[in-house]
Amino acid sequence: MHHRQLTPFPPGFLWGASTSAYQVEGAWDEDGKGPSVIDARASYPEGTSDYTVASDHYHRFRDDVALFAELGLKAYRFSVSWSRVIPDGDGEVNPEGLQFYVDLVDELRAAGIEPIVTMYHFDLPQALQEKGGWSSRATIDAFERYARVLLDALGQKVTYWLTINEQNMMVMHGAALGILPPGTEDPQREVHQQNHHMLLAQARVMRLVHDVAPQAKVGPAPNVACVYPASPDPADVVAAEDFSAIRNWLYLDVAVRGRYNTLAWAYLTEKGWAPQIEDGDLQVLAAAEPNFIAFNYYASHTVAAPRGDGTDVGGTGDQHIVTGDADVYRPAENPHLKKNAFGWEIDPVGFRTTFRQISDRYGLPLLVTENGLGAYDTLTEDGRVHDDYRIDYLAQHIEQMQQAITDGVDVLGYCPWSAVDLVSTHQGVRKRYGFVYVDRDETDLRSLARYRKDSFTWYQSVIRANGLS
Ligand code: BG6
Repeated sequence: MHHRQLTPFPPGFLWGASTSAYQVEGAWDEDGKGPSVIDARASYPEGTSDYTVASDHYHRFRDDVALFAELGLKAYRFSVSWSRVIPDGDGEVNPEGLQFYVDLVDELRAAGIEPIVTMYHFDLPQALQEKGGWSSRATIDAFERYARVLLDALGQKVTYWLTINEQNMMVMHGAALGILPPGTEDPQREVHQQNHHMLLAQARVMRLVHDVAPQAKVGPAPNVACVYPASPDPADVVAAEDFSAIRNWLYLDVAVRGRYNTLAWAYLTEKGWAPQIEDGDLQVLAAAEPNFIAFNYYASHTVAAPRGDGTDVGGTGDQHIVTGDADVYRPAENPHLKKNAFGWEIDPVGFRTTFRQISDRYGLPLLVTENGLGAYDTLTEDGRVHDDYRIDYLAQHIEQMQQAITDGVDVLGYCPWSAVDLVSTHQGVRKRYGFVYVDRDETDLRSLARYRKDSFTWYQSVIRANGLS
C-alpha cells in the first residue's frame, strides 16, 4: 500500500479550526453572563490559570475572525456558553449574551467562513448545577429550551450544529459534570444516570433541530479513539473490545442507533451502574437521527486483560491516559508510539483506523472537530513561533485522513484544535495548541497580542491547495 494513489479531498471540504467558549472567551461575568460550573470550581490545578480572561476572544473576536480569514479557514468550530445566553440556565434570556454569538456568526459569514456551533462544551450553568445538574431530569428540559433559543436566533444562519462536546470524557473523567448531589451513595451509578439524562437531552435536541430548522444538520461530538489489544493474546483482544465499547460505542450507539451498546450495557449491569430508564425514554433515543458524526481524536489507546490485582488501576488519568478497571482492562504501553510533552501518545495511523471503525459502524458522514498537539511554544525575537513539531503532527494526521478518504470514508471536514491559543482543560496556558500565539502566561496577561506561528503559514498553504502538496 506504500505508493497508493490517494483520492483528493472533495471540493468544499471544510478545512477549519476549533475552540470552546470558556477556554477562549474570557469576560466570564460581563454583560450579564451567569457563572458556569467551570467558573464556580473551587480550585484549579496547581500553578495553572483560571478562565476569567482566557484569550480575551470576547473582546477581540473581530480581530480573531480577520486572522481566521487570513489563515483561509473554510469553517470555524466554537461553542456557545449556555450561561452567557441564559444566565441561570433556564430563566430569562440575556439579549447581550445572545447578541455576541449572532455577531460572531455574522462576522464569520461575512468572511466566508462556515460556523460550526457546539451547544454545550463542559460549561453547565452553575444555577442548574445547584438544582441537581444532570442528576435532575429538569436539566433535560432546560437544555432543550436553550437549544430552541439558539435555533430561533441562529437556525437560519448556521448549518452545522453539535450537541454536546465529549460527553464520554465528562462521564469518564469529569469535573465538568459538576459535583454530585450531597449524599450520593454510589457515585458511579449516579454518573451513569446523569449520562442517560444527557443522552436523552441530546436526542431531544437532535429531533428539535430537524423539526424547527430542517435545512440544518446536527450530530453528536464525542472523543473517539481506536483501542488496540496489547498483544494477540485473545484475552487482550476481549479487553480491547470491552474498553472500546465502554469508552466509544456506549455513547455513539445511543446517539446514532438509538439504543445502548450490548457490551457496554452488560458492563454497567454487572457493576450495578445501569441507569434507570423511564417509559418513553427509548422512543426519545430512537427518534434522534443525527445527520453526521463529529468526533475529536488525539490518540489511540492500548489495553491488556486485567490481572485482577492493584496493578490494573492507576495514574491520574485524563482523556488520553487510561486509568484501568480491575475487572475489565488495564492500561498498556504501545512500544510503537512516541509521546508528546504531556504524556499523550501520538498515533496518526490510529486516526485512520478510528475513521474506518466509525464509518463502518454507522455509515454516516464524519466531521473531525478536534485533533492537535499540545506543546510548550516559544515566541522568538522575530515575533514567530517555530512550531515544526506541530506541523509534523498535523501533516501526519492529514495524510492519514486522506488515506481514510481513499478507503471510502465520507469526511466532511477537519477542524484541528485550536484556532488560537487558549487555556487547556487542566494544564493551563502553557499547553498550547493554536495556529495563533496569544501573548500571555498563566498569571501575567501581558499584551494578549496575537502572533502567527509557522503552523499558521503552513496550514494556510494546505487549505489553499485543498490538501497536502
Ligand atoms: C478535548 C476538549 O478533551 O481536548 C478540549 O474538548 C480540550 O476542551 C482538548 O482542551 C485538549 O485537552 P487539554 O487537556 O490538553 O486541554
